[in-house]
Amino acid sequence: MPSTEKVDLRGAAATLLMTLYMRRLDARSRRPILGDPWAEPVWDRIEHDVHGLWQFTGDVSTIVCRAAILDGWTREFLSAEPAGQVLHLGCGLDSRPLRVGVPSTCRWVDVDQPEVMEVRRRLYDLPDSIEQVAGSVTDDGWWSAVDPTLPTLVVAEGLFMYVPAEAVHATVDRVVSGTPAATLAFDAVAPWTVRASRWTPTFRAVGTEFRWSWNPAEFAHRHPSLTERDDISIYDEVSLREPRVWLRPLLSAAGHVPAMQDAMRLHRFTTG
Ligand SMILES: C[S@@+](CC[C@H](N)C(=O)[O-])C[C@H]1O[C@@H](n2cnc3c(N)ncnc32)[C@H](O)[C@@H]1O
Repeated sequence: MPSTEKVDLRGAAATLLMTLYMRRLDARSRRPILGDPWAEPVWDRIEHDVHGLWQFTGDVSTIVCRAAILDGWTREFLSAEPAGQVLHLGCGLDSRPLRVGVPSTCRWVDVDQPEVMEVRRRLYDLPDSIEQVAGSVTDDGWWSAVDPTLPTLVVAEGLFMYVPAEAVHATVDRVVSGTPAATLAFDAVAPWTVRASRWTPTFRAVGTEFRWSWNPAEFAHRHPSLTERDDISIYDEVSLREPRVWLRPLLSAAGHVPAMQDAMRLHRFTTG
């Protein structure tokens, strides 16, 4: 029986427990959407003191649907650019590099804050080819791990809403100007959710809130060399993938409420 690990995370780092908790619930369900086989064994090894995670039970389908779409976009990149490079920013305790099957010819770099990478190293036995880089995306350090000659995918799930706007744009600029061809796949939240996040009890308890929200005109203005390939409302996707078929019409109706349409969207951009 593998030993358990004490995980003492605060601020945005603690939110990785929420997404891992939801992936585990999905994996244990009768008809999983993502079916992450690593979520339960990793979760079972964690000792933590973040209470109230049950409050996220209603968000399981949304969060694992987001992961499934980003896995799909990652697989597409790996098959188009098997000798490229993936920057998995804000990786948390996600098993994505194991789920998507990284070809040996592709570079894969996991990046998250030092306290998270320390836990990630203890809980996952990742192949040496999956590089583990400790650093905040708001700092310069992690960029030295990036190969500037390779076509690059940035996959950032549940990250940019925790990062100040200037740092989000600087990260995008860095990848766009620092690699020969870039694809960016990420989720973004609506401005009203930033206010709502301040009242989310578990966020308050760990000391975090959303800091950046989606403004399509501003993003287009700041990054004129990027072309949007996909812009998906998570509600539209969940209403198609929700295993409880009876819930689908309700989700679809909720997704037509303008505020919900934009609550969380998945974006894929490419250079050129
Ligand atoms: C909601 S969790 C998502 C984790 C993982 N992507 C997943 O889907 O399970 C947010 C993650 O973003 C990371 N994060 C927040 N701010 C960051 C920063 N400035 N630099 C790097 N990672 C950051 C946190 O440490 C945490 O792991």
